[in-house]
Parts: sequence; C-alpha cells; structure tokens
Amino acid sequence: MRQKIVAGNWKMNKSFQEAEDLLDEILEIMEEEKGENPQMVICTPFPYLELATDMMDEFHPKIGAQNVCEFENGAYTGEISANMLNSVGVEYCIIGHSERRKYYAENSGSLVKKLDLLLNEGITPIFCCGEVLEEREADKHFDIVRAQVEEALFHLNSDEIRNVVIAYEPVWAIGTGKTATSAQAQEMHAYIRALLNVKYSKDISEEITILYGGSCNAKNARELFSNPDVDGGLIGGASLKAEDFFKIYKSF
Ligand code: PGA
Repeated sequence: MRQKIVAGNWKMNKSFQEAEDLLDEILEIMEEEKGENPQMVICTPFPYLELATDMMDEFHPKIGAQNVCEFENGAYTGEISANMLNSVGVEYCIIGHSERRKYYAENSGSLVKKLDLLLNEGITPIFCCGEVLEEREADKHFDIVRAQVEEALFHLNSDEIRNVVIAYEPVWAIGTGKTATSAQAQEMHAYIRALLNVKYSKDISEEITILYGGSCNAKNARELFSNPDVDGGLIGGASLKAEDFFKIYKSF
C-alpha cells in the first residue's frame, strides 16, 4: 500500500531556539501518534538537522533536508553532500523545489545527479514538479510536468523509482494563498501516475506517493487529501505552527 505522507517544508525560517521550540511542540502533540500512518516528515534548514534527528524518536516523525549538492564530495565550498545528510540521520530530502529552480538554476541535469546520490545513501527524495501561472493559462501544464518528470526521474529503474516521493506543486499556488482546486490537484496527480504506469507498470505507479503542495492548510487539506491520487501534502507556511501542521496531518 502506498504511504500517506504529510511533509513540512520550513524553508529559510526560524532561529535555532525557535526551531527547538517548534520541534518540542510537535513531539508533544505527536506522542499519541507514534508509529501511526500517515508518516510525518519535517524538513528543517541545514543547521537544525542534527538537533532534529537527535530529538526524534526512531518511529516518528522523520527528518528531511531541503536540498543537497549534486556532487559526491570534495571542493564545493558551501555545499552539503547526501552522505553528510545520511550521517546525521536525515531520511528525506526535497529536490527540485520551484524556489530552487527559480533562484538557484536547479534543472533536470543536476536533479538526476541529486536523485542518484540520495538513493545511494538510502535517503528518500521528495521530487517537486509543477507549472507556473503562464504555463497553466496557456494550457501547457501537463506538458511541463511531463517533461519535468521524464527528464529527472525516468533514468531510474523499477526498484529505484519505488523509493521516490513526488510532490506536485503548481508554482502559482506556493505561498500565495491560492490553492489548486481539489479537481485540479486530482487531475494532475492522476496524470503523473499514468506516466509512471506507462514507463514502469501499474503496480509500481500505484505504489508511489504523490503529494500536493501550494497553500495547503488546515482548512483545505481534508478535501485535497480525499482525492484517490493525492497521498498527502508538502506544506510550507502552515508547517511553521505545530497546531496547524498537526491539523493537516490529521486530515485524511
Ligand atoms: P506553501 O509552500 O504551503 O507555503 O504554499 C509549499 C511549498 O513550497 O512546499
């Protein structure tokens, strides 16, 4: 059965103390939920990853990073490798987020390398894809997402693709308060699953977790998650408050 996931993306927010306080609050609320489905994932900024993995119980929640270097190791000043993430207990890593595509020129070429390095370290990539507003308005959203998925993921074999989580995040919905409708989300998720079915197999496509991201909050999560192909969410703003994030987690 495919894993339901609610993942928080803290982005570049919180001081060390604030991060520790938020993690404490989440742990307290989650005490009762230990080992339960869905899986909660918290993607903190790099400096707090070790704190976060140390604080977490071995069952729940899991800790993720928000980026990784496309090179294995060596003279890449300022970068963080997949092996470093693994060595501090990180189990998930967001890649291909639209903010990184836009501000840091992340593209399919570097994403292929990042995916391979993460999978080698046993870290689950959360691969983001999604169209910008002009692309949706020009009715190109399916073509854009297909190209992103094919270029970055389709070099993986059947065993590898099983270990990838996909997040569909329409860029026009990220941090804007403008959520995709439940029907728009379902339609794109079903499309992505159909691509996986054609490339791999029906069984594999049914196993892969596809998250929705973009202004998902405690009010709209239940409707979004009720769709058959929406397996949870990648949550930005609403993951910065323990109570809101927990409400989303309980929205299945
Ligand atoms: P948002 O961000 O929930 O604040 O829209 C989602 C994301 O960027 O992953």
